[in-house]
Amino acid sequence: MEKKNIDWSNIGFGYIQTEKRYVSYYKEGDWDHGSLTEDANIVLNECAGVLQYAQTIFEGLKAYTTDDGRIVAFRPDLNAERMASSAEHLEMPVFPKERFVDAVTEVVKANAAYVPPYGSGATLYIRPYMFGSNSVIGVKPANEYQFRIFCTPVGPYFKGGAKPLTICVSDFDRAAPHGTGHIKAGLNYAMSLHAIVTAHKNGYDENMYLDPGTRSKVEETGGANFLFVTKDGKVVTPKSDSILPSITRRSLMHVAKEYLGLEAEEREVYLDELTDFAECGLCGTAAVISPVGKVVDHGREICFPSGMTEMGPVTRKLYDTLTGIQMGRIEAPKGWIHVIE
Ligand code: PLP
Ligand code: COI
Repeated sequence: MEKKNIDWSNIGFGYIQTEKRYVSYYKEGDWDHGSLTEDANIVLNECAGVLQYAQTIFEGLKAYTTDDGRIVAFRPDLNAERMASSAEHLEMPVFPKERFVDAVTEVVKANAAYVPPYGSGATLYIRPYMFGSNSVIGVKPANEYQFRIFCTPVGPYFKGGAKPLTICVSDFDRAAPHGTGHIKAGLNYAMSLHAIVTAHKNGYDENMYLDPGTRSKVEETGGANFLFVTKDGKVVTPKSDSILPSITRRSLMHVAKEYLGLEAEEREVYLDELTDFAECGLCGTAAVISPVGKVVDHGREICFPSGMTEMGPVTRKLYDTLTGIQMGRIEAPKGWIHVIE
């Protein structure tokens, strides 16, 4: 199979339309058998539940070309599980886990020419999503849905690749206590748009959201969880019921303990203790691990000793090990790598 003529090493995190996408329709209590389509557009009634009351959820995962030329996806079963949890919270039907993984496989296979080559620095981002499609005018769940998956080749999420980021403590809250912060619903991202545009206008790469209850604890950014490294080399990640349970973060905590022999702890992290950490990073499918050099809290600069020029040493080890596992250079824990072809 011949790869598309794309300048893989220079693409950013944008949308490049590929040939095929998957769609399954839910009607009268059942999902249909689903199929691939070449049509990238969706026609909906003006009163569709997704358009009026934002009943939409999504996932994000990646496919990689390994060093021996296979195409693999990273832990798609966990995306299926998280999407099921998101669906339950927005009163949507669950798309069955096995069918989710099969559909991911089908879409990636059908777009194999768009899976970036090994070593190019790019990957294939896979976007499963689901939305209420029939007309709904009183506030209630839709009773018809579409589950879809498209994919697009992507480069680094943050311009500048591995250059440490500067982030600011946001004045906006991302998620209410007992709200929807722990699920992957479009509404969580719509509310973050004003905050991220404001952060960018002020010269910051991202926002650090605090817990809305006390505004004293670190939660996450708009699209990634935090990882910190203490001065004695322990990996720490914030524990909160209102952050997204990142699959990358859960994988990195395992890598820290089982591959690197580090202590790794999930616990509440106070804004006041940021000065105690040696390194900080953002982790997620899109972000992979993006190092943070500086956090600015209303003019007060918290500079991590790892600095503004390169990743800290522990972050680097975590990054190399995780990407080594994803690209087949390092043996993966059982079940982490789903072979597509
Ligand atoms: N937090 C938020 C708000 C996200 O949107 C994402 C991206 O999916 C993550 C964290 C990272 O999660 P994952 O590692 O599963 O991609
Ligand atoms: C992901 O990492 O998959 C996400 O959904 C984050 C998003 C901000 C692109």
